[in-house]
Amino acid sequence: VIRPLESRDVDAWAAMRAQLWPHADAEDLANEAYAFIEDEAASFLDAVFVAENGAALPVGFLELSIRDFADGCDTAPVPHIEGWFVEPDARGQDLGSGLMLAAEEWSRERGFTELASDTEVENVDSRSAHEACGFEETERLVKFRKVLTV
Ligand SMILES: CC(C)(COP(=O)(O)OP(=O)(O)OC[C@H]1O[C@@H](n2cnc3c(N)ncnc32)[C@H](O)[C@@H]1OP(=O)(O)O)[C@@H](O)C(=O)NCCC(=O)NCCS
Repeated sequence: VIRPLESRDVDAWAAMRAQLWPHADAEDLANEAYAFIEDEAASFLDAVFVAENGAALPVGFLELSIRDFADGCDTAPVPHIEGWFVEPDARGQDLGSGLMLAAEEWSRERGFTELASDTEVENVDSRSAHEACGFEETERLVKFRKVLTV
């Protein structure tokens, strides 16, 4: 079952966010999840979907935001996948593609004609899954930073 996130999912969602982003602060990830539940309109996320397993437990999620623009897209603003995750033992059962279909449907219903996403170059599994879900690679970026001394 793929469905919009509900408030009862918040702890499971926060735990899955921590699995997807292990280097981020788990408390920050949980606080973002609680903030979305409390006031969706104020959140940087515009939609969240969850995938349930046979026991009706959330085992996957997809987060979507409408960005002002996304590299490689022809239209702007454009919905952008911000997080896409399925628990390891629930993978390969079409839950990931089901979440992506929900994101597509949500976007289409709001008049959007493109869906954007990104992943690290070394995340070969994610790249393959994106391509299997119909995404085409558009660009590769190298990010830089320079520490400014005072
Ligand atoms: C990416 C992810 C969400 C896919 O979830 P999933 O439930 O396994 O996906 P599905 O079973 O619906 O598979 C969707 C399609 O992708 C393909 N696919 C999924 N994982 C794949 C992999 N590792 N290698 C190649 N193809 C893959 C499937 O074969 C399927 O293609 P098909 O429809 O042609 O059969 C899941 O693997 C995951 O959580 N990965 C770790 C987190 C991550 O990298 N997220 C994306 C970056 S934000």
